[in-house]
Amino acid sequence: MTAIDYDSRIPNNVDLASDRRLQRALEKWQPAYLDWWRSVGPQVFADKEVYLRTAISTEPGGWANFGYVRMPEYRWGIFLADAEPDRRIPAGDHAGEPVWQQVPGEYRNALKRIIVVQADTEPASVEQQRWLAETGPSLYDVRNLFQVNVEEGRHLWAMVYLLHGWFGRDGRDEADELLARRSGDADKPRILDAFNQPCSDWLTFHCFTCFTDRDGKFQLGALAESAFDPLSRTTRFMLTEEAHHLFVGESGLERIIRRGAQLAKADPNGDARDQGGIDLPTIQRYVNYWFCYSLDLFGAEISTNAADYFATGLKGRWREARDYEDHRALDGVAVLPTVEDGRLVDTEVPLRNAMNELLRRDYVRDCERVVRRWNQVLEDEGFSFRFKLPSTRFFRRQGIYAGHFFDPEGNLIDEATWEARKDEWLPSASDRAWVAHLMQPVREPGKMANWIAAPRKGIHGKPLDFEYVRLD
Ligand SMILES: [Fe+2]
Ligand SMILES: [Fe+2]
Repeated sequence: MTAIDYDSRIPNNVDLASDRRLQRALEKWQPAYLDWWRSVGPQVFADKEVYLRTAISTEPGGWANFGYVRMPEYRWGIFLADAEPDRRIPAGDHAGEPVWQQVPGEYRNALKRIIVVQADTEPASVEQQRWLAETGPSLYDVRNLFQVNVEEGRHLWAMVYLLHGWFGRDGRDEADELLARRSGDADKPRILDAFNQPCSDWLTFHCFTCFTDRDGKFQLGALAESAFDPLSRTTRFMLTEEAHHLFVGESGLERIIRRGAQLAKADPNGDARDQGGIDLPTIQRYVNYWFCYSLDLFGAEISTNAADYFATGLKGRWREARDYEDHRALDGVAVLPTVEDGRLVDTEVPLRNAMNELLRRDYVRDCERVVRRWNQVLEDEGFSFRFKLPSTRFFRRQGIYAGHFFDPEGNLIDEATWEARKDEWLPSASDRAWVAHLMQPVREPGKMANWIAAPRKGIHGKPLDFEYVRLD
């Protein structure tokens, strides 16, 4: 186990003190980070004590310490998973060779780009979520939001460490830019679309943590297979933190769904809205929206960049080392339905060019598992509604399906049909208004807003009425 040094200004388990130049550079970046956190991080309860976990080691299981902390005093640091002895490059043209501790010159720009794009999502989501605590449905939920926020902040540290440590001057410039872009800003937006969408209500927040953070899980999983060992080690530890974010989203939606079903059952007309809840068709439309926005994050279905990243070993497939035997992927094809002359035709694509799509398919399988669990809840509640993920062709703005119109089953339709029916499939203005008007804060320990069921248990063995945020 590598212990974390909490005595330094920047907590770390990478022996930062032995590299004075790097330490000084990061200590210079730290106040800029704190300014960023104060100005566009959580704007509500910023000075309150929150019951949060902090990493104290990088051992799998039992690495966290729980206690009250004011968020600006959270100890963000640099924590890498332990090095695997004699680790070999898992995939691509160099498969089987020793991993790299330094960045090969010819791959430097590509690797920097991969790190910057991943890094940019971390502060973006904190910005998107900065006002949510104002309308938190319970202190339990607000605490979970803040836990996600501080860990996304830490993920930014994880990536900035790589930029400062291995990319010299332009790495430091990129680290500064990460604090300069803003989610949703017209002039300096975040890099990826989903991270510029507003997140101003809690149904959206739970969809975001369920579907968009789950994209993060798969991207980090592909980077954990990288030939560049520091990237692999840092993403491996990020993944252990990410698991909680996915829990927040998946269980949060499950509670909204369960409550929606219960309220509909209690209503003489079967209408959850009449009982002050969110009806299941509205939840399905939010799910459609965020699932599809998150699909875009995987990049184009057919991509020479993705092929290059795989060939060079910068990125592997999901569980490359564990689930594949042929790590070169030089033979083989992926079959993709593509639009030709107004209809869908199956097209064969060389496997390496389909790496984005393969990762997206792993992601979709994971999402399907989540939806099955929600449907089990509905079954248990004796409710006939079932959730369903739309086709991966539906409502896409990136890749080969962008610019065409599909229904949620994935059938090609014309624009007039899309316009006539899109409010059945995606949140309408009135759905958004309904959800927005339900967002009234509940701040008494143990109490929940009417539209969301209580969680089955508290955090870290604490009761539900525990004071997860100390309001005075
Ligand atoms: Fe993250
Ligand atoms: Fe996350």
